Amino acid sequence: MIDLIGAMSFRTAGTAQRLGVFELLGAGPQPAADLAAKLGLPAEPLPVLLDALVAFGYLVKTHDAYALGPAADPWLDRTAGGGFAPILAVWHDLIGELWTGLEASVRAGAPPEPFYPWLVRSPDRVRDFQDMLAGLARMLAPAVAEAAPPLTGSLLDVGGGHAVYSIALCQANPDLRATVIDLPEALRQGSVHVERAGLAERVQLVPGDLADHIDGRHDAALLFNIVHGLDREAAADLVARVARALRPGGVLLVLEPFADPPAGAGAHDTALLAGFSLNLAATQGGRLYTFDEVASWASAAGLTGVERVALGTPSTDELLVARQEAQ
Ligand SMILES: C[S@@+](CC[C@H](N)C(=O)[O-])C[C@H]1O[C@@H](n2cnc3c(N)ncnc32)[C@H](O)[C@@H]1O
Repeated sequence: MIDLIGAMSFRTAGTAQRLGVFELLGAGPQPAADLAAKLGLPAEPLPVLLDALVAFGYLVKTHDAYALGPAADPWLDRTAGGGFAPILAVWHDLIGELWTGLEASVRAGAPPEPFYPWLVRSPDRVRDFQDMLAGLARMLAPAVAEAAPPLTGSLLDVGGGHAVYSIALCQANPDLRATVIDLPEALRQGSVHVERAGLAERVQLVPGDLADHIDGRHDAALLFNIVHGLDREAAADLVARVARALRPGGVLLVLEPFADPPAGAGAHDTALLAGFSLNLAATQGGRLYTFDEVASWASAAGLTGVERVALGTPSTDELLVARQEAQ
């Protein structure tokens, strides 16, 4: 029953967000009739939805007026910088649209429809996806920059979209310049972030496909949250292609929540990772891999000195660091 209530609560909050309820209430408490008029909705059943949001903790009701409650204020009000709004939007679409194919995906052994074409079909969705990732990256980037070895020369950021990690590593390493490869839609936010950081001369954004040949010779490469979106064969192949793009002595950094999380991960972390892995399997044909699996691909690609590096912040994300032999 708790799971059922959780599912109802999640879908109700996602629907309210799509309707624009949280932004409107960010301006102050309002009765249901005013909300309906401003949102262009019929008088019913909006109050039923609002009462459910009260019961689930997203809103509070005083006399006849609804206001943002502790689960929404400021988390879901985009006008107040609500950092959880893109996360709710992306997961609401994932669970509401793509997870309806979960059974078909398990039966067929592949997702019913390719994930990224689905994502980019809606400009709002791809924006929310990159905003969600950029928000998570902003939380982790200082710890990643701290844990990474000193970097100089050329950094290749494969699937680096929002560019937050490349920016942070360039800021931490003054002699580093970065090339971020991603789908054109994903680079839109990246270019805004690079401009804002004043790093346009050092961070280059290149539209491209992971399946294409990876050009150039680089001193370092990032595969951050990429291999989990691929099946084993494609993931191992990508690690090998990126390894070939490294100069002798070059370093590969893989950031992942591994399927075997660090000691100290709680029951909540384990459950979230298992659900995330199922989401990857059902929607992208990927999954979370153990550290040893990813390490074995790096070794097979000729990289050495493979290390597992914890981030100095509470997180299930960890770094795998490996090096191309110096000649
Ligand atoms: C889970 S996100 C990770 C983004 C970033 N590296 C991070 O850690 O926050 C995966 C990234 O891979 C990009 N991507 C997926 N398929 C791709 C493809 N075929 N070619 C290029 N980029 C792709 C996505 O657009 C997205 O930015």
